Amino acid sequence: MSETFQKIEKTLHQLGVGSNDDVSALFAELREQFKEQEALLRKENDPVNLQIFWTSWLGRKSGVLTRITENWLKPSPPELKRIVGQELNSLKAHMETVHSEQLAAIETAAEQTALARGREDLSLPGVVRPLGSRHPLRQTFEEIERIFLSLGYSVVAGPEMETPYYNFEALNIPEHHPARDNMDTFYMAAPFTESIQGKPFAENAQGKSAAAPLLLRTHTSPMQVRTMEKQQPPVRIIVPGKVYRRDNPDATHGFMFHQIEGLAVDTDITFCDFKGTVEYFVSEFLGPKVKTRLRPSYFPFTEPSVEVDATCVFCDGKGCNVCKQSGWIELFGAGMVDPAVYGFVNYDAKKYSGFAFGMGVERLTQLKYNINDLQLYFQNDVRFLRQFA
Ligand code: PHE
Repeated sequence: MSETFQKIEKTLHQLGVGSNDDVSALFAELREQFKEQEALLRKENDPVNLQIFWTSWLGRKSGVLTRITENWLKPSPPELKRIVGQELNSLKAHMETVHSEQLAAIETAAEQTALARGREDLSLPGVVRPLGSRHPLRQTFEEIERIFLSLGYSVVAGPEMETPYYNFEALNIPEHHPARDNMDTFYMAAPFTESIQGKPFAENAQGKSAAAPLLLRTHTSPMQVRTMEKQQPPVRIIVPGKVYRRDNPDATHGFMFHQIEGLAVDTDITFCDFKGTVEYFVSEFLGPKVKTRLRPSYFPFTEPSVEVDATCVFCDGKGCNVCKQSGWIELFGAGMVDPAVYGFVNYDAKKYSGFAFGMGVERLTQLKYNINDLQLYFQNDVRFLRQFA
């Protein structure tokens, strides 16, 4: 401790201070000592230093001012009391002013730092978030929906878990019919009953319905039946959705793929309406240059049944690897609704007629974008997906 500070531990008498001037000189010496500390305080704006300053000067127990009161003021000779008191008060006032000014300065400084921290630098580069894109299959769905909506069709959806009744029987595919062979699928043992899933799948010899197992639908055609059950003609619907088959995955097969079903039933719907609709769709979807042809085929729920072919989009019908030099590519299956189906849904087969089609969405997408592997759709590889943004 400096010499000056040692003085506060002695009385005025011990210090040999005997006059007003001596007292003033003593206080002046103290202030001089303080000047340096004050300058540092003001420069650093440090709350910890300010606290130390407060304790050492103004602290009630052992601060300098307390020591002066104890050692100089109280034991001072009566004739010096007044001047000591005055000097002491003015020193105290000075210290208090310094303290409150510093307190304010520290607060302002803190506010400014906080402000500076919160300020945004608009010249910094922004955060670039990668943009996603619609999946190519989704784009095909939307394109096909757009075309049929413009023809007055509505879009409906149905359950992926079906009863064998809707997936097969009501579509004129009885049990043990060979048409079930290429529609092997996944069955669930859950004993759902009639009330949850519509009609029971089979009746036994006694005419009692068994609890229906469920299967993953193998096509979107069950929605033909479900829709016709609910409403009388006119019907014009398309049904986009997932379907399932027990297939081993390769470039053209998967256990799940997507279809869009179509169904139009009304009075006086002819094969010409069917052909016109199909041709319109193909030219909208693949372009006006593409020609269509109908090839005889077989489905239990359409009669006559056809495969719709288009001139190969890769060689304009000249013949290439993709179309195996034939110039034609198979698009989808379709046909006039077999009157047998109307029997399952209480439609008057003499009064109404219609057509149906079922398109594979992966296949149509493949043709449109020249994709050679079905698995690419489901691997979520952004290098693949980004090409369709
Ligand atoms: N459901 C048939 C299939 O998945 C396609 C189809 C639908 C055929 C409608 C004719 C009419 O193979």
